[in-house]
Amino acid sequence: MAVVNHPLVAASLAILRSKTTASADFRRALQEVSVLLLGHASSAWETVPHEVETPLKTCMGEILARPLVLVPILRAGLGMLDGMLALLPHATIGHIGVYRDEKTLRPVTYFCRLPATISEAQVVLVDPMLATGNSACEAVGLLKSSGATRIQFICLVACPPGLERLRSQHPDIDIITAAIDPELNEMGYIVPGLGDAGDRYFGTT
Ligand code: URA
Repeated sequence: MAVVNHPLVAASLAILRSKTTASADFRRALQEVSVLLLGHASSAWETVPHEVETPLKTCMGEILARPLVLVPILRAGLGMLDGMLALLPHATIGHIGVYRDEKTLRPVTYFCRLPATISEAQVVLVDPMLATGNSACEAVGLLKSSGATRIQFICLVACPPGLERLRSQHPDIDIITAAIDPELNEMGYIVPGLGDAGDRYFGTT
């Protein structure tokens, strides 16, 4: 579990938190901070030695040991994808859609499409907000049922209830966040948070 302490992450987060930030600036800041968070997550990835020939001489380099699969949780997770793809253009993309049943308050999966390579891949699950933790737990369960064994979860803002749920149900998952906010309100919003990340990214408020 890591809270990424970096001046550029902090500056993007302040833009994302401000209620006066317009959709276009929100999109840009979310994409930028996503690259930085992915940069942090990727420092744990394994590499293997690889011989390269420079114009002058052969030398040893490194390549990533595993294929990469990025999995946004719909809808807000899509907001983190474009920035990450700029860093990892060869990554394969899976999608998981989860909504909360109004009566049972339980997460319900309405879409799940994951690549066949998932069992050997380094998998990065993304969602800007780790609120109750229900969607993240459901999504990690789906990834594991599909054979994924190396899973990181990247979010922008987490809160204690979501972290506790995800860490107790899936203690093997590496969680990377830009901030841990103190509260989850009765509506399921993180406080102070940044509001509804999906609405702000897609301009649907
Ligand atoms: N989802 C959001 O978009 N924002 C929150 O604060 C919590 C869940």
